[in-house]
Amino acid sequence: MKVTPYEVKGKIDYEKLITKFGVKRLTPKLKRKLGDHHLLRRNIFFAHRDLEKLTDNFFLYTGCGPSGNIHLGHYIVWEFTKWLQDQFGCDVYFQFTDDEKFLYKNMSYDDIQNWTKENMLDVAAVGFNPKKTFFIVNTKHANLMYPEAIKVAKKLTLSTVKSAFGFTNETNIGSYFYTAMQTVPTFLPNILDGGKRQCLIPYAIDQDPHFRLTRDIVPKLGHQKPLSIQCKFLPALQGDGKLSSSVGNAIYLTDSPSQVKKKINKYAFSGGRDTVKEHREKGGNPDIDTSFQWLRYFEASDKVLDDIELKYKSGEMLSGELKLILVNKINSILAEHQKRREKVVLNQFML
Ligand code: TRP
Repeated sequence: MKVTPYEVKGKIDYEKLITKFGVKRLTPKLKRKLGDHHLLRRNIFFAHRDLEKLTDNFFLYTGCGPSGNIHLGHYIVWEFTKWLQDQFGCDVYFQFTDDEKFLYKNMSYDDIQNWTKENMLDVAAVGFNPKKTFFIVNTKHANLMYPEAIKVAKKLTLSTVKSAFGFTNETNIGSYFYTAMQTVPTFLPNILDGGKRQCLIPYAIDQDPHFRLTRDIVPKLGHQKPLSIQCKFLPALQGDGKLSSSVGNAIYLTDSPSQVKKKINKYAFSGGRDTVKEHREKGGNPDIDTSFQWLRYFEASDKVLDDIELKYKSGEMLSGELKLILVNKINSILAEHQKRREKVVLNQFML
């Protein structure tokens, strides 16, 4: 297993990651502090740092690396962040790391700028409150970001960054610097308004190496360590590994209903039996069935989910029927999303 911001591979063992990264398991008590959300109930958001210290004076911070279409794996983190914003009425600072993607990907600066625009539309369409949501685009907000990033960078050595991200002597120097940029929004809002708010960062666990460095450095600059909450990856439709655009079967927020149907029917790994007769007798296995696993991420009602699980296990429900339930669920989420996307006014969101 390998989990870094720039490479995720192998079968992910989340228990091992907790020890390896030094995060803590989310407890029922901490979950109650945040409220009732199916991603918490089902332990998809599963770990945290310092969440027990959360007060009512905080802002949320998360981000997006713009290098392609947004897929459903990104969506769940943002949907959860929007829910937290609604629960607590707090500000969200949202970073678009066009610098990062330019440095790490074999793509032109102009292509990255186009994706930045496209991705901003998708983030806004998740439904964040425009009055309380502030987009930071790293190259566009360089005037605010750079003076703080160099303060962070001054505390970071080459060998620290090298070992945190697995870099080599052949890695370009911009990549070494970049992590400083990802640290800045954890305290930038307090610089801007002179406040003392805590920062809470929701993110998928692969981003953890950045924020481990952040927590070592920011106290040296007189800022509070950010609190954080980590989620598991949405599994790839074929089963193992994380959903990723590079695999080619990811479902994008801009996909049409027929594209969604095609991808799920073609790729979703089935926990069903070889023949209908055998399936009726022995039942399906929801634990290895990606359509069922995806419903754990996207079907908010426990009652509906439990009912599907029972019927699938008993053989009453066939794999094709289960896939259809997932197709309909995803398509209804995307239909709402795409409607909101049409109406986004980006100016309302820019810091
Ligand atoms: N590096 C992240 C990515 O590649 C983008 C990002 C920036 C981010 N700041 C963040 C993600 C804070 C989570 C939380 O997608």
